[in-house]
Amino acid sequence: MSEERAGETIICRCRDVTEEEIVEAIHQGYDTMELVKRKTKVGTGTCGGRTCLPLVQRILAREKGVNLTEIDLPRERAPIVPLPIRYVAGEEGRSSR
Ligand code: FES
Repeated sequence: MSEERAGETIICRCRDVTEEEIVEAIHQGYDTMELVKRKTKVGTGTCGGRTCLPLVQRILAREKGVNLTEIDLPRERAPIVPLPIRYVAGEEGRSSR
C-alpha cells in the first residue's frame, strides 16, 4: 500500500474504489446507485458488484440520511450470450433432468 492510500477504505477491490471516492461522488450530486456506479466504476469488476454494491448502498443511505430500503440497487444488464431461462429463474438444480 502506498503512502497516499494509507487510511483509505477500499470498497470495491475489483476496481480499487475507496469509500472517500464514493462519498465525494455522492456530494457532487451522483446520488443514486446507478450514478455512483457510472461515476466511479464501482461494481463493474469481475465479481459483478457482489461484494461492493451492498456496501455502496449502505454508504448512500448514510450520506443521504435515508433508510437502506430507499436505496435501489443498479439495474442488471442482460447476459451477453443466450442462457436457458432456468439459469435466470433460479431453477437450475431443482429439475429432475
Ligand atoms: S468488488 Fe466491486 S466489482 Fe468486485
